[in-house]
Amino acid sequence: MKDKLLLLNQKIAEAKLGGGEDRIKKQHAKGKLTARERVHLLMDPGSFEELGMLVEHRSVDFGMERQKFLGDGVVTGYGKVMGRLVYVFSQDFTVFGGSLSETHAEKIVKIMELAMENKAPVIGLNDSGGARIQEGVSSLGGYADIFYRNTLASGLIPQISAIMGPCAGGAVYSPAITDFTVMVDQSSYMFVTGPNVVKTVTNEEISSEDLGGAESHATKSGVTHVVASNDKDCILKLRQLLSYMPQSCDEKVPDLPFELGDEIKANIGDIIPDSPNQPYDIKSVIDQLTDEDSFFEIHEKFADNIVVGFARIGGKSIGIVANQPMSLAGVLDVNSSRKGARFVRFCDSFNIPLLVLVDVPGFLPGTDQEWNGIIVNGAKLLYAFSEATVPRVSLILRKAYGGAYDVMNSKHIGADLNFAWPTAEVAVMGAKGASEIIFRKEINASSDQMETLKQKEMEYAEKFAHPYKAAGRGFIDEVIDPKDTRRKLIRAFKMLENKKVSRPNKKHGNIPL
Ligand code: HXC
Repeated sequence: MKDKLLLLNQKIAEAKLGGGEDRIKKQHAKGKLTARERVHLLMDPGSFEELGMLVEHRSVDFGMERQKFLGDGVVTGYGKVMGRLVYVFSQDFTVFGGSLSETHAEKIVKIMELAMENKAPVIGLNDSGGARIQEGVSSLGGYADIFYRNTLASGLIPQISAIMGPCAGGAVYSPAITDFTVMVDQSSYMFVTGPNVVKTVTNEEISSEDLGGAESHATKSGVTHVVASNDKDCILKLRQLLSYMPQSCDEKVPDLPFELGDEIKANIGDIIPDSPNQPYDIKSVIDQLTDEDSFFEIHEKFADNIVVGFARIGGKSIGIVANQPMSLAGVLDVNSSRKGARFVRFCDSFNIPLLVLVDVPGFLPGTDQEWNGIIVNGAKLLYAFSEATVPRVSLILRKAYGGAYDVMNSKHIGADLNFAWPTAEVAVMGAKGASEIIFRKEINASSDQMETLKQKEMEYAEKFAHPYKAAGRGFIDEVIDPKDTRRKLIRAFKMLENKKVSRPNKKHGNIPL
């Protein structure tokens, strides 16, 4: 037995060395952690169990039969994050640049199958040169096996991808199918074709960082949801993100302990400026409404005219979708609609209630928007809200104009509770625009056109620029004093916690993609 144990321990030690000490040093020199260090940081101390540590590739071409590393470039297993079961795979760049062989893919697939059968999240820590070039089509098949599982797992269990090194070619499509992507700034990149191919095909010269680094994907493409400053920060953010999610679509997120106090926020109403055209930061409203320091923003730098993210309210995990008057006056456009829709669908898949904060002047006009499909993209957000069956609460703070009123979780598309502040204006459009259209003749005929327009604007505002017409129709359930909002929301989400609605039975809908 002693000898056998000795052999086992030798093999474990060998596996833990990955591609060897020199390569581990190289990884550290780049400011990166190794695959195992990342996993141990992610999991609660002592909880990680590794599987497939002794797996070797089966490749025989290009002298590969003489180059084998136990584990074959990926650490896989399960453990706990804040006491809850989580599956993980972590690519080991020290072994063939973390490239994906047939056996490497098999290990990942095994973890994904276990996660689906046992209904717990999968975290992928990606750091790879892509398809193992020596293996050819076997490696491509391995990728497709993973993409297929990603799709099967979508909506069943949360899937989060961390990009902690290269992620190129078709490899990008696994993270793209998962629910959230976290990229490490300066040490990771994602692209379908790299700078060399770009130069050949389009004659553009661009660095890897500019083409597909964290900043580009956080601001331009929206491919990444969260940016981390380094490996440790990335792992911390993954743990935080998981805390807002249930284990699977069959569960709800456990509530944190919470005692209801008076919850009065005396000055919250002062955040809204007197002038309807003056901006303010919706995040200062979010901070006052949610439990202390609980807001975790998603897509912070992408389409910042809408703010989305997780938070807790009265100890409950919720998703927030909020127009941001600080950016483009909070208007809905192509990217903000896409961003909002994706987030709403995640929350709905995983039983996370939605709070929607409305201050929206409408959809952004212009050829750029029309030709880039504001119709079909705006429809995504409308569709996402309409199909959501989780508890849905709206609060109109100021403007709720035109089609955007309907889209932003209105009563008509299935919201459960719709609150408004006294500053709310529910109308087809703002008083000035409306007066210019419907009183045009009178204004044109007047000797003092400016004065007449002003008078008509006031007349219109008196009639429509308030929440009482909508409340009179029951489209708003309650007009509330801003200071009571937090208490009302806590009670509302508690009241809605057992909500169950059924939808017509069908295979699946056809969201306008
Ligand atoms: C086999 C690979 C590899 C790969 C890297 N290595 N990528 N081995 N297959 N895809 C090996 C290197 O040979 C090297 O081995 C070690 O990993 C570290 O690589 P370096 O080049 O020294 O590291 P670095 O300078 O940091 O550059 C990293 C890199 C570069 C940018 C990722 O290695 C690279 O460009 N690799 C090729 C990327 C690529 O074209 N992959 C295929 C993409 S297509 P030694 O022994 O010298 O240390 C694809 C299709 C997927 O993935 C399709 C799915 C549908």
